[in-house]
Amino acid sequence: MPVLVLGGLIALGELAPGAGFLALGLCLAAGLSLAWYWLAGVMRLNAALRRAAEEQGPFSAPLPAPRLPAIGEIEEGLARLTRSLQNRAALVVQLRAADEAIVEALPDPLIVLAADRAPLRANRAARRLFGLVGEGLARGDLAALLRHPVMAAALDRCLAENTPQPVELALPGAVTRDLSGQVLLMQPPLADGGRLVIMLTDRSAARAVERMRVDFVTNASHELRTPLASVMGFIETLRGPARDDPAAQERFLGIMAEQSERMRRLIDDLLGLSRVEMSEHQPPDGEAELTALLRAEAAAMEPLYAARGIRLVLALPEAPLTARPADADQLGQVARNLLDNALRHAQAEVRLTAEPARLGAREGVAFTVRDDGPGIAQEHIPRLTERFYRVDKGRGRGAGNTGLGLAIVKHILTRHRGQLVIESALGAGSGFRVWVPGA
Ligand SMILES: Nc1ncnc2c1ncn2[C@@H]1O[C@H](COP(=O)(O)OP(=O)(O)O)[C@@H](O)[C@H]1O
Ligand SMILES: [Mg+2]
Repeated sequence: MPVLVLGGLIALGELAPGAGFLALGLCLAAGLSLAWYWLAGVMRLNAALRRAAEEQGPFSAPLPAPRLPAIGEIEEGLARLTRSLQNRAALVVQLRAADEAIVEALPDPLIVLAADRAPLRANRAARRLFGLVGEGLARGDLAALLRHPVMAAALDRCLAENTPQPVELALPGAVTRDLSGQVLLMQPPLADGGRLVIMLTDRSAARAVERMRVDFVTNASHELRTPLASVMGFIETLRGPARDDPAAQERFLGIMAEQSERMRRLIDDLLGLSRVEMSEHQPPDGEAELTALLRAEAAAMEPLYAARGIRLVLALPEAPLTARPADADQLGQVARNLLDNALRHAQAEVRLTAEPARLGAREGVAFTVRDDGPGIAQEHIPRLTERFYRVDKGRGRGAGNTGLGLAIVKHILTRHRGQLVIESALGAGSGFRVWVPGA
C-alpha cells in the first residue's frame, strides 16, 4: 500500500523523483525483510508440527531463539503438546504390556478368537491345558474344543446376542476334561482383532475329588450294609423258624458274632483312616525306636500266627534304629497292618527285617514284611493303597477284610514323609518295605 501511494505521488509530480524512489526502495526493503522473518518462523513451526505428528518429540537441541516473540510462544506450546502426546503413547504401550502379562499369568485358561473363530491368542494356562507349544493354535484339543457342539452353540449365541454365554462341557481325550467357563464378545474388538474371549476353568481335578468322596461314602455304607443285612436276617430266623432249634440257634449266633465283629473292624478302620487323614498335614514331632517297636508288635501277633500255624521269623539288628521325626503309635499300626496282611496270605512263613537305609540323600530306617503267599499280580500293585481295594473281593470279604489297611499305611507314611514299596509277583510271595526318615 505505501509503495502504491509513493508511486502515485511520484507520477503526479507531488514528490521529487530522487526522494520518492529512495522512499519507495526503503519501503520495499522493509516489506521484504518482514516477510522473510515471518516465513522463517512459519517454516520452523511447520517442522515442529511434522515432528509432533510423527511422534518424534520436540527438537533435542534447542534452536536459536526465534526472531519474532509470537513464533517463540507458539513453538513452546507445540513442544508441550508433543511431549504430552509422547507420554500418552508410552503409557498406552505400558498398559498393553501389563494387560498381556496379567492375561498370560492368569491361572485359568483364556483364549482369544477372531470374528471367524480362528484362535488368535491363548495364555499360558490354556497352552498347558491343550498341550500347545509355540505357534499353531488351531490344533489338537483346542480345535476339538472349538468344534464341540456346546462351545459352538455358545459362540453362536454370544455373537448373535452380544451377552456373555456360560459353557459347561466334558472334552473327551486321553483324559476327559471337565471344563466350565464363559464366552464373551469384545465390543469394540481388541487391538489384535480379537472378537471373542473364552475363559475356562478346568474342573477335572475337583470333579475327581468329588467323585472319590461320593465313591467313599457309597463304598463305606455298602460295606456296612452287607453284614448288617445278614445279622438282621438271622434275627428274623431266630425269632421264627429257628425258635425251637437250639443247634441252629448256636450256629446262627456264631455267624452273627462274626458279622458284628466285621462291622466293628470296619468302623474302627474308618475312624482310624479319618484320624490319620486329619493329622496328615501336621508332621509328627516325636521319635520311635524301630527294633523295640517291631518286637512288641510281633509279640502281640504271635498268638494269631501260632493259631494258623505260620512261623514269624524276626531278623532285627542289635543296634537301635531310630525313626525321627515319627509317631510311634502310628508306626506300630503300620507294622500291625502289614503283619496282619502277611499272616492272612502266607503259606508257612513270614519274615520281618529292619535296617538303616537311605532314600536318595535322606538318612532313614526301613523295615520289610515278607511272606511266602500267592503274591500279587502286577496290575493290582499300584492300586492296593486305595480305600476298599481288594484283589480278590470274594475271598477278602470272607476273611473279614476291610480293604482299608494299606490305605491307612499309605496315609501314615505320607505324614511321615516316608515311602512304601511293594515287591510282589504271582507265585513269588510279597514284600512290603517301609522307609521313614531317621538315623
Ligand atoms: N501280603 C499280601 N499278599 C497278597 N495280597 C495282599 C497282601 N497284602 C495285601 N494284599 C492285597 O491287598 C488288598 C488290600 O489290603 P488291605 O488294604 O490291608 O485290606 P484288607 O487286608 O482289609 O483286605 C488285600 O485285600 C489283598 O488283596
Ligand atoms: Mg489288611
